[in-house]
Amino acid sequence: MRASIVVLPGDGIGPEVASAGVAVLRQVAERFGHEFTFAEHAIGGDAIDRFGDPLPVQTREALLAADAILLGAVGGPKWSDPNATVRPEQGLLAMRKLLGVFANVRPLKLHPRTAALSPLKPERTKGVDLVFIRELTGGIYFGAKTRSETDATDECRYTVEEIERVVRHAFELARTRKKKVTSVDKANVLETSRLWRSVATRVAADYPDVELEHQLVDSMAMHLLTRPADYDVIVTENMFGDILTDEASVLAGSLGLSPSASIGGPGAGVYEPIHGSAPDIAGQSLANPLGTILSAAMLLRHSLGLPDEAAVVEAAVDHVLEHGNLTRDLGGNATTHAVTRAVLDACNAKAEAA
Ligand SMILES: NC(=O)c1ccc[n+]([C@@H]2O[C@H](COP(=O)([O-])OP(=O)(O)OC[C@H]3O[C@@H](n4cnc5c(N)ncnc54)[C@H](O)[C@@H]3O)[C@@H](O)[C@H]2O)c1
Repeated sequence: MRASIVVLPGDGIGPEVASAGVAVLRQVAERFGHEFTFAEHAIGGDAIDRFGDPLPVQTREALLAADAILLGAVGGPKWSDPNATVRPEQGLLAMRKLLGVFANVRPLKLHPRTAALSPLKPERTKGVDLVFIRELTGGIYFGAKTRSETDATDECRYTVEEIERVVRHAFELARTRKKKVTSVDKANVLETSRLWRSVATRVAADYPDVELEHQLVDSMAMHLLTRPADYDVIVTENMFGDILTDEASVLAGSLGLSPSASIGGPGAGVYEPIHGSAPDIAGQSLANPLGTILSAAMLLRHSLGLPDEAAVVEAAVDHVLEHGNLTRDLGGNATTHAVTRAVLDACNAKAEAA
């Protein structure tokens, strides 16, 4: 197949990990006879420096024409002046809005070799294989805001349509997995959560093969630490998802391991590791590229409809996690480049065996 992929390296370790993702996609194209074209564009601090805008017009135009987007990371101390009017993160928000992506998908799977790095005891993390789906476009982050000398308000609003499309996404995904959806809300207190719960219950009737459970966000925060292996697909609104996915991200033992996708809009999906630009290790080839490589696998599966190719990349990452020398965050001393090379070799071996 043919696909045009926009690459947004961004800031800090962003360019290092993005080039690892591109190397893997290039090899997949070569091995499986696809024609992928890659076009690099500016976002974040790099775009502010070069164009005075965290999402310049050239990047916007390229995003709208792309089949899929691979992002490194944005941000860093150079652009963190609290009084600045343009900030790197504005580029991310503008991009999500432009593409209309409404579902942020974050899988979390613990590999036995890295389980010891998790803050949880190994018996608690055994078998953890879950996916968070966070609603990205509604809720309190986008509601009307007021501020006076004496008070402030943030409005939280959700429409039935916004809830239904993301909940359906969760059920569709659960059908391809362990067939269980946990819908997280605060229905004992919030009206938006009561609406959320009623829509989730109605949508569930269309998926009789998938189990639905409702969970209050406060108890979900506890259960994530006490019995994370009990979950399959977890779907929730924007702010609860923001907080819970950060809590979940530390369970893997390193931020460098986990991928994410922002999908569901009329435009292309955005694939990126969950970590930030890690300025403390930028430019030293210390960055773990596996989160970005697994994001590239998600890109193959979700945006390009290439599940076999995605499975080869995931199996190659599993192989490296099992047998390879890993980056420092995972207790090894391999460089970003060496780990990427090991994944490329493992991809070749897996593709030949397939
Ligand atoms: N989506 C994004 O682009 C995104 C997300 C989060 C933070 N940020 C931005 O990134 C900058 C740094 O933020 P932070 O330090 O809070 O978070 P961070 O994720 O960049 O780093 C946190 C810690 O994890 C380590 N780490 C992160 N990714 C790693 C990798 N691939 N390999 C090895 N170690 C890794 C870092 O060295 C650091 O010690 C800030 O400007 C922040 O706004 C961007």
